[in-house]
Amino acid sequence: MAEKEEALQNLEKIKADALAVLEDVANQESLEAWRVSHLGRSSPVMGVFSSMGSLDKDLRPVMGKAANEVRQALETAFEEKRQLLEAQALKKALETEQQDVTLPGRPIAHGRLHPLTQVLRRITRIFGDMGFQVYPSPEVETDDYNFTYLNMPPYHPARDMWDTFYTKTEGVLLRTHTSPGQIRVMRDRAPEPIRAILPGATMRYEQLSARSEIEFAQVEVLVIGENVTFAELKGTLEDFARRLFGEDARTRLRPSHFPFTEPSAEMDVGCFVCGGEGCPVCKETGWLEILGCGMVHPVVLEYGGYDPEKFSGFAAGMGIDRSTLMRYRIDDIRYFRNNDIRFLRQF
Ligand code: PHE
Repeated sequence: MAEKEEALQNLEKIKADALAVLEDVANQESLEAWRVSHLGRSSPVMGVFSSMGSLDKDLRPVMGKAANEVRQALETAFEEKRQLLEAQALKKALETEQQDVTLPGRPIAHGRLHPLTQVLRRITRIFGDMGFQVYPSPEVETDDYNFTYLNMPPYHPARDMWDTFYTKTEGVLLRTHTSPGQIRVMRDRAPEPIRAILPGATMRYEQLSARSEIEFAQVEVLVIGENVTFAELKGTLEDFARRLFGEDARTRLRPSHFPFTEPSAEMDVGCFVCGGEGCPVCKETGWLEILGCGMVHPVVLEYGGYDPEKFSGFAAGMGIDRSTLMRYRIDDIRYFRNNDIRFLRQF
């Protein structure tokens, strides 16, 4: 009898000890630790179950029942504590993580136009005011449009003026300038007169540097009509330069050579960094080259579907990256296309 009393008392003690410790458990981690030491495999209650074999036969059912009750009591206490802790944690979270609905909202970051797009739009507006239409043209071109129809037959050394990206498809390339678009407008409009600009991306197989990129933007200008003269080329382009760079912008035309214009010229504007005195930007010349131009070559007119005896015209092509670079004194052309928001935000 004494043995039984002792064993039952021992069980009661196990229970009381465990519940006393549980009383002080205040968070999930110590609750889990409590579960391991008081209900786990090597806990005292479980010890009672495993020592059952060494007990007196008639004692076993009594002890088994009592031990089960203790275990159940501890499990219930555990579950109650678990729920209590959970409720406490939730209450605390609701109190401390409360949202202040009176706070002002986060501002939405507004995008803005890329500096090249801004310049392109100004150019488009200026030519628009002069009655020019914008004509879209493809960036992937054929060899014929990029060269042959522009008076550069296959194997003609003039093609070397452009470092070209060829594709694996014979005769297909990335356009090196917007001039192939001239032929496309002409073939579309002939024999109507044309006043159009063709803006877009152009690609050249060049060494990347602060001054050159493999992709850059150009705007092509094309005027075709009867009796279009070099005087109109000069008047139009000088007027354009004044509208873009300011009323007092100085310009000059220098003789040049392009296979698709005759005669050909390049237009410079007075350096807007040094005002013409000479500086590193204009390489001490006082002038910045902004475009190539000339009277459309008779061969090109013919490829475009115009009779050179009756029609004449002028064309110009300008790269807008480099002038934008100089305009905003940007020291590296690669900023334009590397999508760095810190750079773009400045414009
Ligand atoms: N396409 C020429 C270039 O990229 C520029 C140009 C256009 C010259 C039209 C004359 C006429 O260098």
